[in-house]
Amino acid sequence: MKYLTIALAKGRLAELSVELFTKLGCDCGEILSKTRKLIFTDEKRALRFLLVKAGDVPTYVEYGAADIGVVGRDTLLEEGRNLYEMLDLGFGRCRMCVCGPAEMRERLNSTSTMRVASKYPHIAAEYFYGKKNMNIEIIKLSGSVELAPLTGLSDVIVDIVESGKTLAENGLEVLEEVCPLSARLIVNRVSAKTERERISRLIGEIRSLI
Ligand code: PRP
Repeated sequence: MKYLTIALAKGRLAELSVELFTKLGCDCGEILSKTRKLIFTDEKRALRFLLVKAGDVPTYVEYGAADIGVVGRDTLLEEGRNLYEMLDLGFGRCRMCVCGPAEMRERLNSTSTMRVASKYPHIAAEYFYGKKNMNIEIIKLSGSVELAPLTGLSDVIVDIVESGKTLAENGLEVLEEVCPLSARLIVNRVSAKTERERISRLIGEIRSLI
């Protein structure tokens, strides 16, 4: 039988994704070991797991290099790829927020141009231009975004808040909530047809677990 390929996101969702597939009876625990391997196969279920950077999961799925993907809604919103979002998996719950020093709260309701740093420039643009109709300058960063308002690089940030610990430890606050986030199951548009039965069965099994 042809393998069904599932792209899992490295990082904060990796452990929870592996937990989900382990509960389904998949042999995929090796993914979390210190191995440098990137492809893992479950011969029994004819599943193949790929471990990729979170931001690349929608790319693998859109182009069909993976039939299925598990990725955060933040990545989906940022990437805007052509694929099916099939299921809210319910784990990895957190929020996309505008954060900064408390004194920036008022400026978010003024007409002055703010500088916004983020790993998510599209989400930031959509929120500020689309929803708030505010003129901003976006500065794209790759990580440790909380540093930006602390060093004067930006006024505020648009970033993920989970426990709120990173903000608290850096003297920053949630100023506005952009949207709630959680892990999603995504499916390639062609695979959704050619592998319809297997994918529906898998989704059914996942649904009964969550
Ligand atoms: C994320 C996010 C925040 C932090 C939020 O960063 O960008 O910095 O986690 O989590 P908390 O509310 O539980 O503190 P990540 O750990 O992915 O690292 P990065 O900033 O280097 O990308």
